[in-house]
Amino acid sequence: MRLSLRFVLPLMLVLAGIAYAIAPLVDRLTLSWFVHDLDSRSSLIVNTIQEPLQELLAAGKRIKILEFFNRLTQDERLFAVGYCATPTARALATRSLPPEIRCAELARWEGARDHLLLSAKGPLHVSVQPMISAAAPEGRLVLVHDMSFVTRRSEETKRYLFYLFMGLAAVVSLVTVIIAQLSWRGWMAGMRSLLRGEGLLRQPGAAQPNLPEFKPIARDLQRLIRELESDARARDEDQITWTAESLRAILRGELRGEDIIVVSNREPYIHQRRGDHIEAQRPASGLVTALEPIMRACSGTWIAHGSGSADREVVDRHDRVAVPPDKPAYRIRRVWLTAEEEAGYYYGFANEGMWPLCHIAHVRPTFRSGDWAQYVAVNRKFAKAVAGEAKTKAPIVLVQDYHFALLPSMIREELPDATIITFWHIPWPNPESFAICPWRDEVVAGLLGSSILGFHTQFHCNNFVDTVDRFLEARVDRESFTVSFGGKLTAVRRYPISIAWPPEAEMLQKSVADCRSGIREQNDLPPELMLGIGVDRLDYTKGIVERFRAIERLLELNPEWIGRFSFVQIAAPTRAGIEEYQQHEAQVRAMATRINTRFKSQGPPPIVLKVEHHEPREVYEYFRAADLCFVSSLHDGMNLVAKEFVAARDDERGVLILSQFTGAARELPEALIVNPYDADQCAAALLLALKMPATEQRDRMRLMRGLVAEFNVFRWAGRMLLDAAAMRRRGRLIGRSGGVET
Ligand code: G6P
Repeated sequence: MRLSLRFVLPLMLVLAGIAYAIAPLVDRLTLSWFVHDLDSRSSLIVNTIQEPLQELLAAGKRIKILEFFNRLTQDERLFAVGYCATPTARALATRSLPPEIRCAELARWEGARDHLLLSAKGPLHVSVQPMISAAAPEGRLVLVHDMSFVTRRSEETKRYLFYLFMGLAAVVSLVTVIIAQLSWRGWMAGMRSLLRGEGLLRQPGAAQPNLPEFKPIARDLQRLIRELESDARARDEDQITWTAESLRAILRGELRGEDIIVVSNREPYIHQRRGDHIEAQRPASGLVTALEPIMRACSGTWIAHGSGSADREVVDRHDRVAVPPDKPAYRIRRVWLTAEEEAGYYYGFANEGMWPLCHIAHVRPTFRSGDWAQYVAVNRKFAKAVAGEAKTKAPIVLVQDYHFALLPSMIREELPDATIITFWHIPWPNPESFAICPWRDEVVAGLLGSSILGFHTQFHCNNFVDTVDRFLEARVDRESFTVSFGGKLTAVRRYPISIAWPPEAEMLQKSVADCRSGIREQNDLPPELMLGIGVDRLDYTKGIVERFRAIERLLELNPEWIGRFSFVQIAAPTRAGIEEYQQHEAQVRAMATRINTRFKSQGPPPIVLKVEHHEPREVYEYFRAADLCFVSSLHDGMNLVAKEFVAARDDERGVLILSQFTGAARELPEALIVNPYDADQCAAALLLALKMPATEQRDRMRLMRGLVAEFNVFRWAGRMLLDAAAMRRRGRLIGRSGGVET
């Protein structure tokens, strides 16, 4: 439209100007045509009336001659007719003959070029023709034509000419605009293809463009865009102090206030019935620890399995409940599962199949087709829930973890323009290990419905991309770390997860001194006792058995610590319906009993095992009371317990012993990094921690606190959302808002 106005108006003005300029030319031209025309007409009339007029003249019938002349002037254009026998005679003429025409002056008209007379009656054409007879050898016939029609015709001609030019302008404009539009579209299509990594000019119907000469340009352009984006991101990241507020600002600014939908299996608040009252429990889950502060900051909807005994009692008729209970900031939308669904999808495929498959913890995965069927059905159920909760056609959906590998592509079917950010909270194994899964292709293809797929470490990103390369017909770009599958592009990125910083004030309310004395008292432990802490779900991947073995080894090698050091292991019950977990619990309990029996002394037991749920505030109290924290996971995506211990120690004391097989070990090298399978090494680390001077503890703790503060969970979510925003911008440029088409 703008193009049309910018082009058409000037064109019309120019053509109107041309029409105006050539109007006098048209006047002159039409006049000369008509004069010539009237000359011929006059000669014709004279020839025609020659004979009868000669006869009348010869008969001298003046009256008859005048009657004859009057009859002739009935013609529309013939204005007057006259006859001069001699130059001195009076003209025998119709009354309409203008007085300016006198017999004495006829010679003037005979020699004139234009024969024009401008009389009071208007413009006239005067033609003088000889009418010789024996009686009047000098006789002349005068024919006067009315020329006012010439002016009329000339006006008409000018009007038609003007219309012609305007019509011409309209046609030229229309043709130009159509051509411009077509070429603009073609150019845009070319640009889009270019940005999508195709050639510049895609042949209609051709699957792959084959213009190799454009490939370098496309590559350069793509690289330039990526560099600009990563520059902007690096700059943004450096400039932003990552807090709940900066995250909200990204949502408001970069994402235009778009609503966030989180999907996870585990809900952030589980309503449990305890006698006659209902308690809102916060589950032991790294995923929940990380995402809960994000949702408090961003609002929106968190869709999750309603698993609490009182969950149904507190929801509204749309199965929604506002949380946190004391200060609602977002809402949970609960999805109900039948016992069969939970058994097949959650216990079966997710936790007996995918969980051991992805963790190298030497527990064999179990895959059953019945579990797979439930997994597919429950993923579908959650996809419907997402579609139901979406307020726009292009929401931002954050899909969480291995329970929902199929959900991204299912959401894509329901909401093609959604921006789907999937985060895989657990490790991704190498392709050989992953090949064990009978539905490996479906799982990987399901994940590739995501716009962005995130892992904690680059190593897991590499493993995923290798797996795609091995099993699917997909285009993998290792430079940009993107996978193109089924016409859609998925960016595979590393986003190391973290915790909120600063921790909630409530968590640090009680002083370290009070926590130390309080926890020891609570557990019947002497006030001067050195205390170690371990906080985990009772899961075989957490290396609790290996941890106990290390404690045993420490006391074996350093018996002076018997009775002077105790280790409190908080073990949150988890997935108790699975046999492997039941066996593991039994093994952990038996081991604690055996070690406590072995080093039985007058003093406190080496291991205090607490298999029960603890609320985050209680856990923080333990962290603040302890001298060391031992995280000995056999394989862990990140492990947020390590970061929480660091966050809890605002006194800059305490030593962290950390398994090299956690994602956290890559970020916290100031911890004592150990191989949990090496009992001697772990025992040595325990001894080092027990003896570490306060100054060294402070130096290490300070560095670790600095890192966790800077790389907090708001940065984790913020980076993903910034990437999603950039993707949406690029999507708009090439005509899609969700996943970028390839
Ligand atoms: C891991 C998983 C989470 C899960 C948590 C607790 O951290 O990555 O998705 O929520 O364990 O396990 P649970 O089975 O109790 O939800």
